[in-house]
Amino acid sequence: MKNRNILRNKTALITGASSGLGVDFARGLADYGCHLILVARRENRLADLKQEIIDKHDVEVTIIPMDLLSPDAPQKLFDRIRDEGKTVDVLINNAGFGIYGEFIDTPWERIKQLIDLDIVVLVRLTKLFLGDMVKRDSGYIMQIASTGAYQPMPMYACYGAAKSFVLNFGEALNYELRNTGVSCTVVSPGPTRTEFLEVAGQKPNLYQRLTMMSGEEVAKIGIAAMLNGKSSVVTGKINTLTIWLSRWVPRRLSTASAYMLAK
Ligand SMILES: NC(=O)c1ccc[n+]([C@@H]2O[C@H](COP(=O)([O-])OP(=O)(O)OC[C@H]3O[C@@H](n4cnc5c(N)ncnc54)[C@H](OP(=O)(O)O)[C@@H]3O)[C@@H](O)[C@H]2O)c1
Repeated sequence: MKNRNILRNKTALITGASSGLGVDFARGLADYGCHLILVARRENRLADLKQEIIDKHDVEVTIIPMDLLSPDAPQKLFDRIRDEGKTVDVLINNAGFGIYGEFIDTPWERIKQLIDLDIVVLVRLTKLFLGDMVKRDSGYIMQIASTGAYQPMPMYACYGAAKSFVLNFGEALNYELRNTGVSCTVVSPGPTRTEFLEVAGQKPNLYQRLTMMSGEEVAKIGIAAMLNGKSSVVTGKINTLTIWLSRWVPRRLSTASAYMLAK
């Protein structure tokens, strides 16, 4: 495969690595011989994944159990990694969650947590790690958005809007970095078999069940796009077609369609 050795002995920091896509990004990058720093709150899950990966691959795996919503968490994470003398070559900003339901019924505290994790922590970590990458003229950043980023998302109003931020921020940053050896790739998955819907408080609907991809497929597409320096990728043919079609219909209609598909 193209670029097979490009990540060998490099180090990737993956947020949200205790379940779902984060686990598949970790497994996928370990296949490339990449060392890993795994962050999430559930320490036991991180420890199990570490064991699984070191049993199979000759890579170092460091786990950092951390609530990224605790005060100054991104700065503390950055300081800890720097103090341990590690260099982050790949940053995967994957930790995130959605909230299913009408905005009016959603508690403010939960909305604030979503904006803080899905946007503020992602931008802060990008800001912290990007400087050294640009100095070294090498590095990869991956931002996890969603197909929900491409149009308004009734029933996921704040989540969809947060992912629109991630999409536009990531693509703009990739352009700003065009004359450096650093790239920023936005990965937009559609429904994917993870703990996302459970955390969001939604039972999978028919559309989600029919189009659900595996985390492994999504991670593979994301890593390939990242290694090719692409600014953006929507995962899977159905998701790509749906996003393409939504560009050609009036915005109110694409909003109504998003509502039909999400509810
Ligand atoms: N699955 C989908 O259908 C789908 C579609 C589009 C986009 N996405 C995006 O994909 C990304 C990964 O989600 P997923 O689908 O893999 O869902 P998931 O299985 O629920 O994984 C979310 C990860 O984020 C971590 N996390 C949540 N809050 C955290 C906090 N405060 N501090 C540190 N880590 C935290 C969780 O770990 P702990 O609970 O252990 O902290 C977990 O590892 C998210 O950005 C999500 O928005 C998912």
